[in-house]
Amino acid sequence: MKKINETNNWNPNTYNKHTAFVSQLALPVVNLLDPKEGEKILDVGCGEGTLAVEIERRGAKVIGVDMSAEMIEQCKAKGIESYVGSVTDLPYNEEFNSVFSNATLHWVKDARAAVQNIAKSLKIGGRFVCEFGGEGNAYHLVSAMEEVFDKNPEFGKFDNPWYFPSVKEYTTLLEAEGFSVEYMEITPRPTPMDDVSYWLDIFANGMTKNLTSEQSRVFKAECREILKETIYSEEEGWMLDYKRLRGRAVKI
Ligand code: BEZ
Repeated sequence: MKKINETNNWNPNTYNKHTAFVSQLALPVVNLLDPKEGEKILDVGCGEGTLAVEIERRGAKVIGVDMSAEMIEQCKAKGIESYVGSVTDLPYNEEFNSVFSNATLHWVKDARAAVQNIAKSLKIGGRFVCEFGGEGNAYHLVSAMEEVFDKNPEFGKFDNPWYFPSVKEYTTLLEAEGFSVEYMEITPRPTPMDDVSYWLDIFANGMTKNLTSEQSRVFKAECREILKETIYSEEEGWMLDYKRLRGRAVKI
């Protein structure tokens, strides 16, 4: 997830410094959640808690879950009740009015297990509101990484850790697990970044963890060269080619 991922390593300070956009761009999905006074809401992949704080500000009680102990520490420091845990193994049974998740579920390859756990955690009539990478998300970023692995066989096999479903695929999955889908859409979200090297450091560090430091340097340098042709321009600088799937479904 942002953090429900066992392969990536998350440093909350580096993450916050270069990815403030993750929560800044998330207000529309909080609005889609429409938290109400007194509701109990599970935030899956709560990270360091910025959105959980916003949801509590609107009167709901949030419980956060994230795979990263460092992120949970920061989340707790903001006053949010939160736990280290995985969306594929949630301990809750029909407890929540809503499950919310931003920028997380593209890290969970076992999407069915995630949806089953989310459904189990919700009360009947409860809503699931999410935003994460949809079909075609980060196409240039992923293609560049794959190309660099292909060009350097000593790096091993490129193992894509991300799940970017289409609207049809995710709707079908939700319906199969007992949801009625009220809304789902994928929209392009070109996202500025100070330098793609920071993005690679933060989001692709799981991919380079078995490389030597020299191989990691080559990996990043070659990705950057390729990406300069596709997601960089003099006028706009670096622009990540994000596409967001946003949806709202009700447990029936
Ligand atoms: C994203 O937030 O869309 C994303 C994160 C990691 C890899 C690719 C995309």
